[in-house]
Amino acid sequence: MKKIIIAIDGHSSCGKSTMAKQLAKEIGYVYIDTGAMYRAVTLFAMRNGMFPDDGIREEDLKDAINADKIHINFKFNSEAGRPDTYLNGENVETEIRQMAVSNRVSPIAALPFVRALLTEQQKAMGQEKGIVMDGRDIGTAVFPNAELKIFVTASAAVRAQRRYDELMGKAKTQEEKDALSYDEILKNVEERDYIDSHRATAPLRQADDAVVLDNSNMTIPEQNAWLMEKFNSIVNED
Ligand code: DC
Repeated sequence: MKKIIIAIDGHSSCGKSTMAKQLAKEIGYVYIDTGAMYRAVTLFAMRNGMFPDDGIREEDLKDAINADKIHINFKFNSEAGRPDTYLNGENVETEIRQMAVSNRVSPIAALPFVRALLTEQQKAMGQEKGIVMDGRDIGTAVFPNAELKIFVTASAAVRAQRRYDELMGKAKTQEEKDALSYDEILKNVEERDYIDSHRATAPLRQADDAVVLDNSNMTIPEQNAWLMEKFNSIVNED
């Protein structure tokens, strides 16, 4: 059976990662979460004092990248059944999912030199094909020739509720639960949509040859069946 590249793009919090991860597992492909890479760069910038009150210390971040100080890679976590994200050898999977990072990642992902670095690494990861990659610009900028491109979307309210439920499930103390606000999450989802779709470099947009999946009213099994049908129709064609 031929190996292909599957590019999954779409809005934030519409379950792209869960979907991409499950699909990769089912078909025995490598799964790469490119959002995690942008989050890891953001965490690096946060830890190194690059977010003063008035914005981002872009030059400092550029210098760190040029000095090869940011290394991101993935290692499969068999207990969790998914890859964990490592920043300079440290497992940062949990930390990069926190709101503090979510609130700062879009401006970092809008920086052309950050995109150039990560896009190059992502292209290298797909050289052998057999990969499911999710993000915002995979079908448009990273793999414009991907055999299967999926553009996922759902309403902002549905997406905010899903992210809220996910964070609630992960919260360990009552204090952490009390700190979560649906309204704040909805605002974050809407702001990220805006920044991701309006940035100058590789904005979020549907590739002309992508198939759209609006999963607002779909169950996970329905979605999986939909994906398998698309995958099978491509790998089985002559
Ligand atoms: O998928 P996510 O929510 O973890 O993505 C985090 C941020 O990174 C989001 O604001 C969009 C940005 N991103 C991007 O610009 N390009 C990608 N290929 C993946 C994510």
